Amino acid sequence: MTKWLKHIAPSDCGYSENVELAKFLTGKYERVLDYGCGRGRLTQVFDKEDYIGYDPEPELIALAIHDNIGYQYTNIGPLSKDGKDLILAYTVFVHMHDKQVLEVIKQFNPKTICIVEILGRAWRRPKNFPPTFNRSLQDYTRLLGNYNLIKEHKMPHAHYTTKKKKPIYMSYLLWRRK
Ligand SMILES: C[S@@+](CC[C@H](N)C(=O)[O-])C[C@H]1O[C@@H](n2cnc3c(N)ncnc32)[C@H](O)[C@@H]1O
Repeated sequence: MTKWLKHIAPSDCGYSENVELAKFLTGKYERVLDYGCGRGRLTQVFDKEDYIGYDPEPELIALAIHDNIGYQYTNIGPLSKDGKDLILAYTVFVHMHDKQVLEVIKQFNPKTICIVEILGRAWRRPKNFPPTFNRSLQDYTRLLGNYNLIKEHKMPHAHYTTKKKKPIYMSYLLWRRK
């Protein structure tokens, strides 16, 4: 079993992540890349014809295909370099160091990027599995120099709030190319 399977996302976050993501991403996005899509939990927020899910873990991709009939997935890179309207990185960039994030952006040159994760350097554990490189909003503003933050939203996260005994939020960030 892939080590990632038990690190996808705690299901007891206290709200529907699909509903929240759909509300946050108002409007129509074509050519969506769900980067690090895992087992395809969030796939059905998007229309079939607009979507491709990528994850390096073949076992997760097999589960995603099973659960989301008719959607397109791959675990084989490199993916087509055609520009993307939207890259969704739902708790994915948080597991990648800066250089890897920049490579993804350079490769797909997306018009918009949606990042969802817990912000704050206090959460950084680069040597753990999975490695975490949590960034502050300022870190992302610096890293994504060619993008403006156009929308931000926060949801209280029940699982981590209970675990850490203080309010913890999942941040939803939408960036648009300048
Ligand atoms: C916490 S899971 C989130 C999965 C999915 N986005 C979701 O919210 O259900 C992180 C995912 O990122 C993938 N991943 C880790 N490193 C990656 C990388 N360098 N490029 C692409 N995907 C990566 C893992 O295989 C895993 O499926």
